[in-house]
Formats: sequence, C-alpha cells, structure tokens
Amino acid sequence: MGQLKTPAEINAMRPAGKFIASVLVSLRDYAKAGVSLRDLDAHAHALIDAAGAHSVYLGYHPSFGAIPYPGVLCTSVNDAALHGLPSDYVLVDGDVLSVDFAAQVQGWVADSAITFQVGTPTAAATKLIEATEKALAAGIAAARPGNRMGDISAAIGAVGRAAGYGINADFGGHGVGRTMHEDPHVPNLGRAGTGQKLKPGLVIAIEPWFMAGGDEYVIDPDGWTIRTADGSIAAHAEHTIAITKDGPIVLTARDS
Ligand code: MF3
Ligand code: CO
Repeated sequence: MGQLKTPAEINAMRPAGKFIASVLVSLRDYAKAGVSLRDLDAHAHALIDAAGAHSVYLGYHPSFGAIPYPGVLCTSVNDAALHGLPSDYVLVDGDVLSVDFAAQVQGWVADSAITFQVGTPTAAATKLIEATEKALAAGIAAARPGNRMGDISAAIGAVGRAAGYGINADFGGHGVGRTMHEDPHVPNLGRAGTGQKLKPGLVIAIEPWFMAGGDEYVIDPDGWTIRTADGSIAAHAEHTIAITKDGPIVLTARDS
C-alpha cells in the first residue's frame, strides 16, 4: 500500500484539497456556452500561478499518451468520460462536461473531479450525474478502518448497477500523496469483504465514472481521451479523502 500519512501530514494536505475545490467551483461558474475548453484550461492555469501551486498534469507522460499531457485540466464532454484534452472545442448549451483537476500545493497533491451541464439540463444527464455523485458518497462512507478496499469498490459498483449504468473497472481511484498517482488502486467494481484492509493514514482518490449505456469504452488516437463505445454520455466524480481512525475526511470538499 502507498505510504500511510501521519495526522500532521494529513493536515498538511488540506491546503491542496481546498485549492483544488476552489478551482473546480470557479471553473463551474466559468464554463458557459461560448467558452472553449482551452479557455477553461487557461483560467485554471492562471489560478495555479496566482496560488504558487504546481500543475501535476502539464507534461505528464504515461506510456499510453501519444503526447505529453498538454494542459492543467482534463475536460471531457458528452461521450468523453475521462482524460479529455483541453482543445479549441467551444461549449454549447446542453453539453455534459467533466472537469478533472489535480495540482501540488506546498508539496502535497489533491485530485478531484466534477461533472455538470452547460446551460439547459436534461433529465438523463441529471440522473447520471446524481448517480455518479451518490456512488462517490457511498465509496467515501465505506472508507473507514476495519473495512477493506473491496467494500469501497462494491459500494460504488452497487450504486451504478442499481441505476442500470455502464461501469468499466479500468481507470479507478488511486493513492495520493506528494505525487498524483500512488498505490493502491481503488477499483470501481469489486466484492465486499475482499482486498487490503483500510488503515488510518491511507489517502486515496475515489473516482467513479459511469456511462449512460454499456460497459465498453474506446480510446481516441491521442491515447488519452476515453469515450463510451456506444456514444452515450458519461459522468465522473472524484474526491481525495484521508482515512482516519474516526472515519474519512474529504480533503477536496466543496461548499457547494
Ligand atoms: N486526475 C486524473 C485521475 O483522476 C488523471 C489525469 S491524467 C493527466 O487520476 F495526465 F491528465 F494528468
Ligand atoms: Co484521480
């Protein structure tokens, strides 16, 4: 398992969590029809610079990426579920936008994502987004000492399956610390009572992503953008949380 954090280290991660939350709220306000994904990225970049924070996305280059990551945000629209690159695409009324953002503040990283609708909401997208948020909440509620990793995964999967949504176990959550991606992996499907024991000091990102249609996804030629295979819409919700002896602390909690 990734290195366990002391209570003092968990406290030291709070500014990163607060910063990530504040940027996501600002981006949600900023994202209107007529705004491009690149505008959103530039807005976040300016907030990073103003805060003296450090992007952990820009230049990140895992083997699957055709190019190093070109922005500070992931912006995934409609059938894009994860890792959408900030492009010249201009948002239109009715778009379903997922924004995923991580950065390092005072040496510690936090990672969080929200999905929302641009302009006029639709019932279908509202229901999908609510299920994703409900799954995140269920996963967080299961993140307590005495439980196992499979309890988090099972809680997430149960919400998605009950709502009839597509779920793919690839690209789940992960440990978070001084870097964005640490052990352990936090799958979005699993069996309760299985997997490693959850211990105080474990800091993880929990990140359900559901598809309105089936379980399959496709990857764009850029190697980054994950889309639903059937063209249905997708939604993603993520928080970075710390497991303490008293239960989970949501480091990236937003006021709204
Ligand atoms: N923040 C994403 C996650 O939740 C990963 C983004 S990959 C990047 O794990 F290259 F865009 F940084
Ligand atoms: Co993440």
